[in-house]
Amino acid sequence: MHKNKEYPEKIYNDVQEWIFGAEIANRFTDEAEKHIPDYWRVIELTINILKNNLPQDGSIIDVGCASGNTLLYLYKQGFKNLFGIDSSPEMLKVAGKNLSKVDKNFASRLFQSKTFVQNMTFNAVLCNWTLHFIPERQEYLKAIFDSLVSNGLFILTEKTLQSQIIENQYILFKQDKGLSNEEIERKKQQLEGVLVPLSVRQNLELLTKTGFSQVEIINAKLGFVTFLCIKL
Ligand SMILES: C[S@@+](CC[C@H](N)C(=O)[O-])C[C@H]1O[C@@H](n2cnc3c(N)ncnc32)[C@H](O)[C@@H]1O
Repeated sequence: MHKNKEYPEKIYNDVQEWIFGAEIANRFTDEAEKHIPDYWRVIELTINILKNNLPQDGSIIDVGCASGNTLLYLYKQGFKNLFGIDSSPEMLKVAGKNLSKVDKNFASRLFQSKTFVQNMTFNAVLCNWTLHFIPERQEYLKAIFDSLVSNGLFILTEKTLQSQIIENQYILFKQDKGLSNEEIERKKQQLEGVLVPLSVRQNLELLTKTGFSQVEIINAKLGFVTFLCIKL
């Protein structure tokens, strides 16, 4: 049971834990644009970095590929050696539908799994807005690191711990996107214990401990932070 902070007299006792099911999958882009600061900016930055640093036949996997927005964008920029992984069958169904419009065989390169792929190597691994949902973060990061070739790139975006000042600005961001206070509070409650943010410092420590000796912050907005990591 949860109290609504905006309307303290109102009690939510029907709030269900957040899941990436069919309802979200079918309207994922709208949901992402309304809740993720710099959603498209980070995707564009990711693609620009890959275009400038990878050959066009470089292998790239998008972890938590969701509805396939990043993979589709990469494909349109000429990258063809692309893979996606996501734990949600409903998300992958939407991704498969979107990506089959450009390559009818794309669905065979989309993997449904809660754990990272084995026995594959990549020039780049992308993990935007996904690792914070994965309880076994360290194991997952280690598997990503091991899959990268020497000088391979890892781009990670995480929601990090927000101070009250930043959380208030984040609420304003969502209000600007047209969300009601009730919708904002409900999603916050749904994500409790499902999306687990770490501080920026903890993320940096985790990445360093995993073996990434070069880590840079390349974007940050209202606590959503993008790290560029290189496996030297
Ligand atoms: C916010 S979305 C990611 C958005 C996406 N990267 C993009 O650029 O549009 C988070 C995704 O992570 C997926 N996810 C959650 N836990 C996962 C896990 N253990 N392994 C892979 N994907 C996972 C969800 O199903 C969801 O599609």
